[in-house]
Amino acid sequence: MIKSLSEFEQATAQAKENPDGFWSKVASEFEWKSPWKKTLDYDFSKPEVKWFVGGKLNITESCLDRHLVTQPNKTAILFEPNDPTEAAQHITYKELHKRVCQTANMLKANDAKKGDRICIYMPMVPELAIAVLACARIGAIHSVVFAGFSATALAARINDASCSMLLTADGGFRGAKTIALKKIADEALASCSTVNCCLVLQRTQQEVQWNPIDKWWHEEIEKVGSDCPATEMDSEDPLFVLYTSGSTGKPKGMVHTCGGYMVYTAYTFKNVFQCQPNDVYWCTADIGWITGHSYIVYGPLANGATTVMFEGVPSYPAFDRFWEVCAKHKITHFYTAPTAIRALEKHPTSLVEKHDLSSLKVLGSVGEPINAEAWHWYDEHVGRHNCPIVDTWWQTETGGILISSLAGVTPQKPTFATLPMPGVQAVLLNNEGDEIEGEGEGILAIKHPWPSIARTIWGDHERYKNVYFSAYPGYYFPGDGALRDAEGNFRITGRVDDVVIVSGHNLGTAPIENAINEHPEVVESAVVGFPHDIKGNALCAYVIVRDMGVDSSTIEKEIREEVAKTIGPIAKPDQILVVSGLPKTRSGKIMRRILRKLAAGEHDQLGDISTLLNPEIVEEIKRQNS
Ligand code: PRX
Repeated sequence: MIKSLSEFEQATAQAKENPDGFWSKVASEFEWKSPWKKTLDYDFSKPEVKWFVGGKLNITESCLDRHLVTQPNKTAILFEPNDPTEAAQHITYKELHKRVCQTANMLKANDAKKGDRICIYMPMVPELAIAVLACARIGAIHSVVFAGFSATALAARINDASCSMLLTADGGFRGAKTIALKKIADEALASCSTVNCCLVLQRTQQEVQWNPIDKWWHEEIEKVGSDCPATEMDSEDPLFVLYTSGSTGKPKGMVHTCGGYMVYTAYTFKNVFQCQPNDVYWCTADIGWITGHSYIVYGPLANGATTVMFEGVPSYPAFDRFWEVCAKHKITHFYTAPTAIRALEKHPTSLVEKHDLSSLKVLGSVGEPINAEAWHWYDEHVGRHNCPIVDTWWQTETGGILISSLAGVTPQKPTFATLPMPGVQAVLLNNEGDEIEGEGEGILAIKHPWPSIARTIWGDHERYKNVYFSAYPGYYFPGDGALRDAEGNFRITGRVDDVVIVSGHNLGTAPIENAINEHPEVVESAVVGFPHDIKGNALCAYVIVRDMGVDSSTIEKEIREEVAKTIGPIAKPDQILVVSGLPKTRSGKIMRRILRKLAAGEHDQLGDISTLLNPEIVEEIKRQNS
């Protein structure tokens, strides 16, 4: 573990001078079935990246088996249910190992094999983490789909990866609501021909419809033993696929591989959070997102940490739930999203103050830029000026944290993610693709691969190349803008493409537009983001309808329903404006920059609109907006 600024500087210098030697040393701290022959092979022009080439491993041996010897009775997963009156569960490493092995045997007994894709659509219960690890145990590729996604979105993901199995639950608890997961899964499976087995966990005990491919989890698990040797995987075999939105309608299945992902998530978890053996670490994300994969499951377990899984929401039964859980479990590390902080900041501080948060040592932020107000509120009311805040910048594609301070070790700076991790060569580019030296603002890019970079997009390597490696040849292009201060600290300024981060969720505007266009009355639509107090960004949809005389409130309602049905409730636009046209260039391209300004109410900052095909439409939208 890096313990001082000078050690950090040393590690950064070593990783830059000799990346192979640096990562080789880090990787040797894990369990390998046989060693790698070459540390790194890469060519960004193809693009191709391979780490620990020829190495053989199973990630679960580093996450589970090795702790059986050293700390079998330590809590691995601490589960806090949605309902605060239901007992928390402390699952030890020994027990977790046993349950993962047993679940792995259940998958095998139902014909799952190495290389198969298994879709997981489950609530935040321990069995979700166990299912993920069970897939890894047998070399099946997990594809977790966030349980807030709709049937259409779930089906699209299952079909894209041709999953042969679905793991789901009867339902899930979320605050005061119960989500009918099995019902949504049934609807999805109606259009998924590759799935031949659906294992259903009982969580809510609600009634479900039963189909020929369905099997109860609790019955199947009874039939198998708990001895399951770990399948040998190549370092570059896929570990999982996880979908993220892009600027076309189709979600991108980012493929992460076994060796590099293990090494990098574990290394960054250890150094960013600085967890000590008796600490209790809580990341509030859902395992349906990359944050949950890397920093609830794999990173913490590879380090033998105690990781909390929380089934509920910050507002249930009251807006002090996070703080109540922190006090109850003596949480030392608390990692959440700025949108949650902003939502909680709106409530009286007495809700925080009434709980004993003295156990907290480190706070973290992820998913979107953290604004100054939220940063200071977090620091003052939650951290009581006593906890370093790590603002961690990364992506589904990067697998692990690329830019962040190391808690209490490297300097923090409010609203800045600060310095790149050792081995991450972050640069700023101008529009011509030239590197900007020193202080400045530009496009963020990464020059050299790090071990957990996604290797491809499932089934579409060409798209992977186009999206991430073509705009600025020789660099990985993440799609974010950034500025850098004189000390080299990075501040992420936001997306530079058609992705909007709403409440920390990465939403492509294209799939939302496609959903809106499904409405029979809609001719064309354009969705943009605009600043929002709590969500960071909200969505505004400009919609052209066939008959301008129609009742717009009905259309708005139907559009929201359509979006919820096709993507999920998280993608519902806050604002829908029925307009007679959209500002377009003479070549017919929608001028989103102008729509963004209009949605933000920045009517006097539109720049030159005289070159538009239809400048009069801008005046019309302005009138509607005011
Ligand atoms: O725009 C950046 C923003 O979230 C995007 C990645 O979203 P996703 O793949 O869903 O992963 C989120 C969790 C890692 C980035 O391109 N983002 C993430 N973390 C930060 C951030 N923006 C600013 N500061 C951050 N700390």
